[in-house]
Amino acid sequence: MFVRTASKRDLDAVRALLGEAWHATYDPIYGPERVAAITADWHSLASLREQLERPRSEFLVADDGEAIGGMAYASADESGRTVMLHQLYVRPAMQGRGVGGILLGEVFDSFPEAERIRLEVQEANLGAVAFYEAAGFVRAGRTSNCGRDQSGIPALVMERRLA
Ligand SMILES: CC(C)(COP(=O)(O)OP(=O)(O)OC[C@H]1O[C@@H](n2cnc3c(N)ncnc32)[C@H](O)[C@@H]1OP(=O)(O)O)[C@@H](O)C(=O)NCCC(=O)NCCS
Repeated sequence: MFVRTASKRDLDAVRALLGEAWHATYDPIYGPERVAAITADWHSLASLREQLERPRSEFLVADDGEAIGGMAYASADESGRTVMLHQLYVRPAMQGRGVGGILLGEVFDSFPEAERIRLEVQEANLGAVAFYEAAGFVRAGRTSNCGRDQSGIPALVMERRLA
């Protein structure tokens, strides 16, 4: 499994991975219908293409030569000091084998000027919260609008120093 920058050719596979990982992770929290609606919107090819083109961002995939096993997407604010980790998803069959840790390490290395990295995570997503705590993140607050303005989805905010 090696980590590389994503290209337009990867977006179909990334979209499929996100759909699979979202249903596996969030169906028990939000229900499958709401998950299907959110993922159809947030993970459409148009949304993923916009992500690829956003300045100061890094869109990574973990590739084993045959399939995409995981993805990460992060972007820095205008000052370059604060990075937001927007997405980190590993194919359910590949979870617990180090892929998420490798992707997260590459995200850290991709923003050498940054001082801190922040993310939003569902409090009920205990595996992800434990993963981030093991990676040095601490609880830094809460949001009422996880992922998008006006999403109405509450989440924990976690943060880790980079510099
Ligand atoms: C969370 C996620 C990205 C972690 O990636 P992963 O490849 O499964 O995790 P890794 O195998 O790299 O784990 C690295 C370390 O994190 C910790 N960890 C990972 N999963 C954990 C869990 N469920 N419970 C406790 N600790 C965990 C462990 O310390 C682990 O180190 P170890 O293998 O030496 O014990 C992945 O499981 C995933 O995609 N989950 C579903 C989607 C999701 O919740 N994404 C985050 C959205 S905010």
